Amino acid sequence: MPLYKTITVNEETSLAIWKVEETEEKLWEKVKLTSHCQTRFNGMKSELHRKAFLSIRHLLAEYGYEDADLIYDENGKPHLKDGNFISITHSHNFTGIIISTTEHVGIDIEMQRDKILRIAHKFTPFEEYKTLANTAAVVRKLTIVWGAKESLYKIYGHKGLSFLEHINVKDFLFDAQKTTAQITFKGNLSHYKIKFLEFEAFTCVYATRDKELN
Ligand SMILES: CC(C)(COP(=O)(O)OP(=O)(O)OC[C@H]1O[C@@H](n2cnc3c(N)ncnc32)[C@H](O)[C@@H]1OP(=O)(O)O)[C@@H](O)C(=O)NCCC(=O)NCCS
Repeated sequence: MPLYKTITVNEETSLAIWKVEETEEKLWEKVKLTSHCQTRFNGMKSELHRKAFLSIRHLLAEYGYEDADLIYDENGKPHLKDGNFISITHSHNFTGIIISTTEHVGIDIEMQRDKILRIAHKFTPFEEYKTLANTAAVVRKLTIVWGAKESLYKIYGHKGLSFLEHINVKDFLFDAQKTTAQITFKGNLSHYKIKFLEFEAFTCVYATRDKELN
């Protein structure tokens, strides 16, 4: 099944993940792009990217939306015309969207890769990870923290937000599959709930505002 997973986050928010296994031709079925998106699509050199882009339109259809219901702002952030909130992610053959009727949301899917060890110091205080049992566990944890920060960046949408300086993800246990995070930016403090899941060496993280604390 190309629709890989759906999760009900709460009454107002849910997400869906697609595993891209179809041909590009198959993915075109029932998809109509706006001229803006068609132009973007025409510029995509990688077949993987084109297929991911089309699969997002199938995920939209799961929620009764089509490409024309999406509007991108000048920063590339997607919005839904009906006022509901959306966030979009793609990583290799997995893609995902999260939609909420009431709150800003962010989602990120990342492949778990050792490469993250080399850039960890740019986005998180690396000392915190030294107690973990092995490199695989460090890669898993860093990927979750990175995904949390990407999700929050997608919610916040401000240029200049530093992953290292402005976003703090609270330490967590893998089994909890959740944590919290804070953004401190330009004198404002905001709180978020983070949840994550891992599958087939990928990590999906999603973020919502913590209504009790904000
Ligand atoms: C924009 C950004 C969040 C995209 O994340 P990514 O992991 O590269 O790619 P993903 O596939 O997960 O997400 C891409 C989607 O994000 C969405 N997006 C793009 N810009 C966005 C923005 N400013 N705000 C919210 N969402 C955005 C789009 O929907 C896009 O997919 P689409 O154009 O096909 O619809 C990312 O490139 C970025 O700029 N991150 C911040 C950079 C940064 O500060 N890094 C610090 C490193 S220490």
